[in-house]
Amino acid sequence: MTVTTTHPADLASVPQATRLRGRLGMPPDKSISHRALLLAAVATGTSRIANASGALDPRSTAACLRALGVSIDGEERDGAVDWRVTSPGRSAWRAPDGPLDCGNSGTTMRLLAGLLAGTALDVTLDGDASLRGRPMRRVAEPLRAMGATVDGSDGGARPPLHLVGRTPLRPIDWSTAVPSAQVKSAILLAGLAAEGVTSVTEATATRDHTERMLRARGVEVRSEAVGAGGDGAQRVSIAGGQAVRPLDETVPGDISAAAFWLVAAAVHPDAELALEGVGVNPTRRAVIDLLRAMGASITERASAGPEAGEPTATLTARSSALEAIDVSAADVARCIDEIPVLALAAACARGRSRFSGAGELRHKESDRLVGIMEGLCALGADVTLDGDDLVVQGGSGQTAFGLRGANVQSLADHRLAMTFAIAGLVASGTTAIDAASSAAISYPGFFSDLERVRA
Ligand code: S3P
Repeated sequence: MTVTTTHPADLASVPQATRLRGRLGMPPDKSISHRALLLAAVATGTSRIANASGALDPRSTAACLRALGVSIDGEERDGAVDWRVTSPGRSAWRAPDGPLDCGNSGTTMRLLAGLLAGTALDVTLDGDASLRGRPMRRVAEPLRAMGATVDGSDGGARPPLHLVGRTPLRPIDWSTAVPSAQVKSAILLAGLAAEGVTSVTEATATRDHTERMLRARGVEVRSEAVGAGGDGAQRVSIAGGQAVRPLDETVPGDISAAAFWLVAAAVHPDAELALEGVGVNPTRRAVIDLLRAMGASITERASAGPEAGEPTATLTARSSALEAIDVSAADVARCIDEIPVLALAAACARGRSRFSGAGELRHKESDRLVGIMEGLCALGADVTLDGDDLVVQGGSGQTAFGLRGANVQSLADHRLAMTFAIAGLVASGTTAIDAASSAAISYPGFFSDLERVRA
């Protein structure tokens, strides 16, 4: 039997696998691909982005930038794209003909809002039904404090966002209410167009791709630890008026995609999977460290050279007897996109795991807390919510304890669809995942890779 994704029902049928083997190249990092496009559009001149993500979300960013007058040509190859971006510079972006469609992508909407705040343009940012339900006050408030006009539906809290920029913006010293790389990045990108120094303080340091990529383009960005706590609070500052240089770079593989295979190998009783070219940035790698703390066998061999200023490695994961884990709120913030698949690992581990303070997962492409709980329970796992804590009662420590194939709802959320497909590899019988094509939001080749590793 093979894995099938059928349309229009858009159902993927995943039978249990007897063995998992293979070497996979990981799809290009989605977060870095968005930023590479956006920063190329801020700079005046031509940037070449090799091995960018060909997934739907970064394509939404490219489409929005084209509507602003940025020229973007792509050469497609095997799920990735080599982009050539030529921009007149942010100050010469033109008014788009209509609303900018950010699709399903929160990163597109929030980071672009930060950039547009520092222009003289009047723009509406919109998206699909999922994006229209996502919170935008977190970017609207700081951008308003900087002098931009930002309105939205639901009292300004949700898309569509109507934004009128201002030049120059006023610098702010902002503390984020929830750790969010998107909010931090929006403020820093707006700060580039402010008169003076803009700072963002966050209680837990989030992914630092924006900071690294700005530095690589000649912009000075300061990051300093703050507070005495061990949760990695930091303050990041940027002076306005600095030029962003065009740059040619190569995007590394996506650790958030690799996470699915790390868990697949760990929970399957007969598995060894090698994942090549994975970005292992210290602010993104918590999923590796947490899985190791659960007892997962993961070896890491550094790759030849860092891509886009990011360290990369080949990760090899093998069948392991996992133990339960308590994941702190700070760690939840550090691996926010990997919680669904880590919850699957916890369902196959010995003992009770708790993911504390995971309320932010309610505001992703779906309410992921509910989606994880309902999906894993449908597969026979014991998962409950205690307020915003996700509690997973595992099995006996034997891999894939007790999961049974079933029909599972992905809520059209790419990370839930892929998590339940991985569960299907170890659950008895066959698992059917609805709206499985949502995987293409971040990982267009996911289901072919699933076929490939079923050796
Ligand atoms: C992202 C940051 C995270 C993450 C998202 C991508 C980014 O969102 O969930 O998939 O590229 O900055 P938040 O910053 O809202 O937590």
